[in-house]
Amino acid sequence: MMLTLRTLAMLAVSILPGCQAAIDLLVHSSGGNATSPIAYGLMHEDINNSGDGGIYAELIRNRAFQGSEKFPSSLEAWTPFNGASALSLKKLCTPLSAALPYSLNVAPKSATTQQGKIGIVNSGFWGMDVRAEQKYSGSFYVKGGYEGHFTASLQSVITGEVFAAVKVEGVSSGETGGWVRREFTIVPGKTAGNSNNTFAITFDAAGVKNGSLNFNLISLFPPTYKNRPNGLRIDIAEALAELKPKFLRFPGGNMLEGDTLTTYWKWNETIGPLKDRPGMAGVWQYQLTTGLGLVEYMEWCDDMNLEPIVAVWDGLALDGNYVPQSQIGEVVQYALDELEFLTGDAATTKWGAVRASLGHPRPWKIKYVEIGNEDWLAGRPTAYDTYKQYRFQAFLTAFNDKYPNIQVIASPSVFDGMVIPAPGAGDYHPYLTPDKFVAAFDKFDNLSKQNLTLIGEAAATHPNGGIGWDGNLMANPWWGGSVGEAIFLIGAERNSEKVIGATYAPGLRNLNRWQWGMTLLQHAADPALTTRSTSWHVWRLLGSHVLTQTLPVTAQSGGIRPLYYVAGKSEGTHVFKAAVYNATQPVEISLRFEGMTAKGQTAALTVLRGPQDPYGVNDPFTQINVVNETTLAVAADEGGVFRFSLPHLSVAVLELAGN
Ligand code: AHR
Repeated sequence: MMLTLRTLAMLAVSILPGCQAAIDLLVHSSGGNATSPIAYGLMHEDINNSGDGGIYAELIRNRAFQGSEKFPSSLEAWTPFNGASALSLKKLCTPLSAALPYSLNVAPKSATTQQGKIGIVNSGFWGMDVRAEQKYSGSFYVKGGYEGHFTASLQSVITGEVFAAVKVEGVSSGETGGWVRREFTIVPGKTAGNSNNTFAITFDAAGVKNGSLNFNLISLFPPTYKNRPNGLRIDIAEALAELKPKFLRFPGGNMLEGDTLTTYWKWNETIGPLKDRPGMAGVWQYQLTTGLGLVEYMEWCDDMNLEPIVAVWDGLALDGNYVPQSQIGEVVQYALDELEFLTGDAATTKWGAVRASLGHPRPWKIKYVEIGNEDWLAGRPTAYDTYKQYRFQAFLTAFNDKYPNIQVIASPSVFDGMVIPAPGAGDYHPYLTPDKFVAAFDKFDNLSKQNLTLIGEAAATHPNGGIGWDGNLMANPWWGGSVGEAIFLIGAERNSEKVIGATYAPGLRNLNRWQWGMTLLQHAADPALTTRSTSWHVWRLLGSHVLTQTLPVTAQSGGIRPLYYVAGKSEGTHVFKAAVYNATQPVEISLRFEGMTAKGQTAALTVLRGPQDPYGVNDPFTQINVVNETTLAVAADEGGVFRFSLPHLSVAVLELAGN
């Protein structure tokens, strides 16, 4: 049903209690600051199976048997088809590549007499979504002699029903001996009733020459976001794009640092053909494919129109070890090479030419580079001292010399006790209780403009009274925490000439294996479980109205607390953002914009309200969204005054067209 603006306005007016003294606010027409153009963004590292098994659309888990000292290669997620063959990992004399030394050997149980189908089955990232008429693009490498054809199929674990099967060419006698690649597409004729499905490659036991076949890099992709090969899972990418993000900070996060000085995120091992990527020992309890590598992160930026914030490794590992001063030059050069790979001319630079050879002849533009991640934390105080004494400065000098237009960001902020040498900026990562977020509303007020700060990670993590990381860590974002985040963000927006931008972290969580509960989105193989958290709703509302200029607000009566607010201009509109915390009754507001005095002019007021219980969460398994969002048209009274009320624990944006 379409509601007219007038009807909506009446609805809005009817929700006013109408008897309390209103907080009377005047938004001035000038006097604020031009604000940061990038505002709200995203941060990604592979935590919570948010890359592999998350936004990276690959459906096959453990597709290339990648391993490390920490997570040795294994047959995780693989079983023999019908139990009719023996599976083993083999380190062949002729591996598929130096990066992928292990492969999967499949042998009939009886080498000479066995008949019938044998093969391998993959259970995916805890299931697979199978949809009718969708094109699934697959490939695998095989080594060994095989007369006959392979069958690639998708089937139900529960009923055995085969949703799609396709024949794939076998291995001719001329190909025997080397690795051969096979490609195929599967288009199911039917949508599976649930995600409890597997992928199989089967073949005729009698056709196998020389006793067994070896497989590697077995891959299957559904359609991807913007049709990128090796791309992103559509529903997750779309849910992130709905946040209207402006930047992507990658690759972390602790993933960048790695556990040791030899196991950090090595950018040059995340580029190029998948068969040349060894993967890495993730810091979040699983091995990573790095299929979502440096180029894929940049393609993500291209496809969502995001400003990249590239974090480079700076010689600190999570075990607290750091690179000594005598060797820091090599680490700086490694980061400069990364930048040359991203931005260098294809014809005249070594790494620019490599990028071009990978299908990206045009250099990317990079405006922000962050030096490390949370250098104030691992190995403190000694390792942090080295950051202050020589590591950060070595990077700052080198980047300023070679890339004077890049804003270099230190991984600590002034709030972490770092005096950041000009022209560097800092990065602040508040993981707090709601009360502490609210108390941090004016955190940025007394900073000078020289203390430019990124809020590169933020989330409410503990309930009020929470007792630190070892106690009371919440399992999900909850409404009260999300409102606390909103108030902190509103405080940052009031100072946005000092704030580069803000992003929640971590962004994503696979419901089957996760290390960190508070996330914007939760997901599993079944897209029906993709769940926008309470914080997703808050960050989307605030991030959808980017202020290009702040405007001063004078409180004629009332003041900050329990109403927290910021006002400004945004692309042809005036915007007022507010949140209410610790109010004993709804807060009545009368709001005017200087120079916009017409009676009857209408503004759109969007309000997010939560459940009765401030600890209410958006539970993927009930699919009940506890965040109630309404947009009403509010008509101005005499003098252009907008009157409305906001309840305890609410977040709101009022938008008025016109400059
Ligand atoms: O967001 C999760 C982790 O929190 C990040 O990896 C790290 O930077 C921070 O400590």
